[in-house]
Amino acid sequence: MNPEELARRLRDEIARHNAAYYQFDAPTIPDADYDALVRELRGLEAVHPELADEHSVTRTIGAPASGIFGSVTHDEAMLSLDNVFGVEELREWGERVARSLELNSEDVVFAIEPKIDGLALSVLYVDGQFERAATRGDGRVGEDVSANVRTIANVPGLLASVRGRVEVRGEVYLALANFLMLNRGQRDRGEKEFANPRNAAAGSLRQKDPAVSARRPLSFLAYQLVDHDAVLTTPSHVATLEQLARWGFTTARETERRRGVTAMVERTEWFAEHRYELAYQIDGVVIKVDDLDQRERLGATSRAPRWAIARKLPPEERTTRLLAIEVSIGRTGRATPYAVLEPVSVAGSTVSMATLHNEDQVAAKDVRPGDLVIVRKAGDVIPEVVGALREADRVRAQPWTFPTACPECGGPLERVGDESDTYCVNEACPAQLLQQVVHFASRGALDIEGLGEQRVAQLLHEGLISDVADLFSLRIAELSTLEGFGELSATALVHAIADAKQMPLSRLLVGLGLRHVGPVGARTLASRFRTYDELAGAPLEQLEAVEGVGPVIAASVFAYARDEESRERMARLTAAGLTMREPTADGALETTLAGRAVVVTGSVEGFTRDGAEAAVLARGGTSPGTVSKKTYCVVVGAAPGAAKIARARELAVPMVPASEFEHLLRTGTWSVTQS
Ligand code: IVH
Repeated sequence: MNPEELARRLRDEIARHNAAYYQFDAPTIPDADYDALVRELRGLEAVHPELADEHSVTRTIGAPASGIFGSVTHDEAMLSLDNVFGVEELREWGERVARSLELNSEDVVFAIEPKIDGLALSVLYVDGQFERAATRGDGRVGEDVSANVRTIANVPGLLASVRGRVEVRGEVYLALANFLMLNRGQRDRGEKEFANPRNAAAGSLRQKDPAVSARRPLSFLAYQLVDHDAVLTTPSHVATLEQLARWGFTTARETERRRGVTAMVERTEWFAEHRYELAYQIDGVVIKVDDLDQRERLGATSRAPRWAIARKLPPEERTTRLLAIEVSIGRTGRATPYAVLEPVSVAGSTVSMATLHNEDQVAAKDVRPGDLVIVRKAGDVIPEVVGALREADRVRAQPWTFPTACPECGGPLERVGDESDTYCVNEACPAQLLQQVVHFASRGALDIEGLGEQRVAQLLHEGLISDVADLFSLRIAELSTLEGFGELSATALVHAIADAKQMPLSRLLVGLGLRHVGPVGARTLASRFRTYDELAGAPLEQLEAVEGVGPVIAASVFAYARDEESRERMARLTAAGLTMREPTADGALETTLAGRAVVVTGSVEGFTRDGAEAAVLARGGTSPGTVSKKTYCVVVGAAPGAAKIARARELAVPMVPASEFEHLLRTGTWSVTQS
């Protein structure tokens, strides 16, 4: 297969996986395999820069951090919406619209669509090419978030056969399922969870590193078209949405047209009734005049159009009895108070527990066992206790105080410094250990089938394990005598554990649950250092210098590698036969530079500094920062380092002009040198 063909195939395949992951919430391959495809493409583009087009996923996913976002002035202001809260107010608005249009109120046609709780986004295309994407900001000036938006799979990079300047506006959001998944990840990493899908979407869109943004499963729903050059002639809103859908945008499938105010109001009631059955969180319904000429006649105020209105839906709140306040212990020892509630149905599901976050939150809300409390879902998702109702003739319990002893191990619970969280500081706490082992075996980590919370609890209880490293010495004979196990299930578990030894280093790092090290950080570190020994031996500055690894992650890894208990654990895992290495995935490229050190100095046209080094690495070579007598050759680009040139001369290391770089990558040799 020629390189062009290979690049095209890789891009197609990556695009297919993107669609499965982002649009249908159904990933078709493991993350690691996906990353391998992207790496392969990146390697190929490094060697054949002429194949790298600016819309390639390699640009969009691995683009360098953009630093501070630039600002964008919207040619046409991004307006807000006026709100109504009840059915009556909505009807009055509809009638007012009809009067302005000199129509009977039952003759105006409205489009009724969900008001998605995300962030407004403008995507500009020039002659069909994605030009830039910007947030709403204050309506006039927003932030340039192009790099991150390019990673959203259902924002097309190209609108075939569209001329002129066309701006598509809509909402960036996290589907509920993705939000829950994202928060599970945050929890697993011991990091703060997002309060609601909107915050999570906003945080994800404004990530400084597009690679992180790319891993956040954002979606875009288009609901407006600004046709700057008047190249299109769609007569109505719904026809516009159909046009957008043909271009490859996702539009809200719940959007429907209704003739007349009565039918319009009725349709908004449908949303009020079904709001918790939708795939995304909505905080209202948007009603728009469908006919675009009528819109023109209605116009807008400086704040909002007169042709649209939002009917806000209040968050659902319920009252129930607070039975008790208990404390649960997580993997990191964090002690989280939670409310045990008389079960009550809120926003589409039954709630019997709700987090109270921390000591300060309980105090601020002043909720006490026995109180009648108001419960709602934060962002309609996470059950939350709002506060207590006062009952005149009931004597309340004393204010709740945080226990001083861990409910699981009896060890001390401590609140350190000015942090709001309380921790069980007993490292041998069985509850922590339980959660650590469960995490180690979980899907995103070593993925050991058949090792869920119950089994782990049983193994701990039986004294068969007291550390994750003990898992690898479990024997079939001892397991099969346990309650609930037979010969077959014991064999299956031991085999599943043995299989986990082949897992790449990145998954092991995730499983060990180092603080602040999530899947992205783990993959970054593992593919940079390849083996655990290399990683553990790296000086702090070297860890910090890895792109995408900040000082917090670096410090965490550095400390873990030097902690005595961890060292013992890692030694045991190595002895048990875990690979402790990250496989490379550049099989598609010939290793023309295997074992050769190629120093690149100065800039090479068509490559960034990192790109040039990556291209050498992808060919099996190394790219050290200094010239020695072992150096195979020095590639001399524009404005080279004087010291390197001098050293190369001194050691008689061949100097190869940058124009030869691609030839060197392809063949491992050069045809001219310079002196
Ligand atoms: S139309 C001029 N349609 O609600 C038209 N907005 O409160 C302005 N929103 O900033 C927007 N779903 O972020 C429109 N179907 C929808 C919407 C929607 C959510 C957001 C949007 C806007 C805010 C106004």
